[in-house]
Amino acid sequence: MNIYQYDKSKEWFQRAVKVIPCGVYGHFSPAPYAPVEAYPFFSDKAEGARFWDVDGNEFIDYMCAYGPMVLGYHHPEVEAAFQKQISISDANTVASPRMVELAEFLCEMIPVADWAFFARNGADVTNMAVMVARAATGRDKIIAIKGGYHGTSPWMQAPGHHGTIADDHDHLFRIPWNDLEALDRILAEHGSQIAAFMASPFHHPIFEDNALPADGYWQQVVDKMHENGSVVIVDDVRAGFRLHMGGSNEHYGFKPDMIAFSKAIANGHALSALVGTDDLKVDAAKVFHTGSFWYCAGSFAAALACLNILKAEDGPARMRMLGEKLTGGLRDLASSHGYTMIVSGEPALPYLRLADDETLMLQQAWCGECTRRGAFFTSHHNWFLSTAHTEDDIEKTLQIADEAFKAVKKQFGS
Ligand SMILES: Cc1ncc(COP(=O)(O)O)c(C=O)c1O
Repeated sequence: MNIYQYDKSKEWFQRAVKVIPCGVYGHFSPAPYAPVEAYPFFSDKAEGARFWDVDGNEFIDYMCAYGPMVLGYHHPEVEAAFQKQISISDANTVASPRMVELAEFLCEMIPVADWAFFARNGADVTNMAVMVARAATGRDKIIAIKGGYHGTSPWMQAPGHHGTIADDHDHLFRIPWNDLEALDRILAEHGSQIAAFMASPFHHPIFEDNALPADGYWQQVVDKMHENGSVVIVDDVRAGFRLHMGGSNEHYGFKPDMIAFSKAIANGHALSALVGTDDLKVDAAKVFHTGSFWYCAGSFAAALACLNILKAEDGPARMRMLGEKLTGGLRDLASSHGYTMIVSGEPALPYLRLADDETLMLQQAWCGECTRRGAFFTSHHNWFLSTAHTEDDIEKTLQIADEAFKAVKKQFGS
C-alpha cells in the first residue's frame, strides 16, 4: 500500500506561516495533528466523499470539512441551485425571497421552529440564542457543560485562553454533562439569575469519549429550566441534520426553546440558522444582530436543495447505517489485532479511541497511519459520515485500517 508524502503541502505551509498567523489557524491547523508528518494541510480538489491534497494524494474523508459536507463535495443538485441563484443575485441591498422560502421550510420540518433567523457561522447563532434568552428573561447567567463547545466568542472559550479576560466568564456556569444534581445546585443558588441552559444534544468534547444523554436527562433539564423561568437552547451546530431532520432533540425525544444549526445545513455553503418557539419571537426581533454577508442568497438556495435531498433520501438513516458498519468493522479489526477500540457518541459522527494506551500516542499513531494510506482520520475529534460514503468506501477503509494496525504493532507492540 502506497505511503503518502506531503512535499507540496509542506511548501505551502512554509509560505503560509510567513503571512498568516499560525500558517493554518483554528481547527484546520496542524497543531492537534500528531504525528504531524502523517497529515496533509492543503487541498484544492474534492468530490463526493473524497478530497485530494496538493501532492495529489487521494483521501476517503471522514472529517467532511469538520461537518459541513453531508451529501458529498460538489453535489450536483446543490451546486446547480447555488449557481442558479448567484447568477441572478447573491449579495444585494435588500433581502432575497430564498430566505423566506428557507425559513418556511425549516418551520415546516422542525417541530420546535415557529421562526428562523439566519447568519453565517455556528457562533453567530449560539451568540444570538444567548442574547434572545437574556432579552426574554431579563437575566444574565448561562449554564453550559464542561468541555462543551459553542464557538470562539470570548465567553465560550476556556478561561485563560489567549486574548480572553477573566470578566468574559462572569456570567457562565459550567457543569458536568448528565449531572442533574449539579444543575439543581446552580438553580438553588442562582436560579433567579439564570437566563438559559445551553448544550449540544449529546456531549461531543475533543480528546475525550463522547457521551449520549442519560435516559430522561434532557426532559428533566427542560422541566427544571422551565419551572425556573429559564430558556433551553440546543446547540445542534455539529450534529444537526445527521441524527434527525427535525433537530437532534427529536432523536432524543424532547423539545427545547431554541436550536442553533450550521455545518451540514447547506452542504458546505456558509450558513447558520437559529430557530425558536413563538414565545421568543418578539425578543428575537428586538435583539440587534447582523453581518455583512448574512443575506447572501446563494447559500439559502443551497440549503433548500441540501435539506430537501437529505429529507427525501433519509440521510440520517443512511449515515447511521454507514457509521455502524465503519465503527463495528474497526472495533472487530482492532480486536483481531489484540487492541480494544472504544466507540462513543453517535454512529453518524462517532468518536473512536484505542483504549490500550492512555497517553493517546497509540491512537494518534494509528490515525496517522490510516491517513497516510488514504483514510483521513483525526485522533482528537469526532469523525463525520456523509451520504456520499459507500459500503465500498467502508470496505476499502477497513483494508487501510488493517495495514495501519500492522504498522503500529511494529512500533508499539500489542
Ligand atoms: C457544537 C458546536 N457549536 C458551535 C460551533 C461554532 O461554529 P462555527 O465554527 O461555525 O462558528 C461549533 C463548531 O465546530 C460546534 O461544533
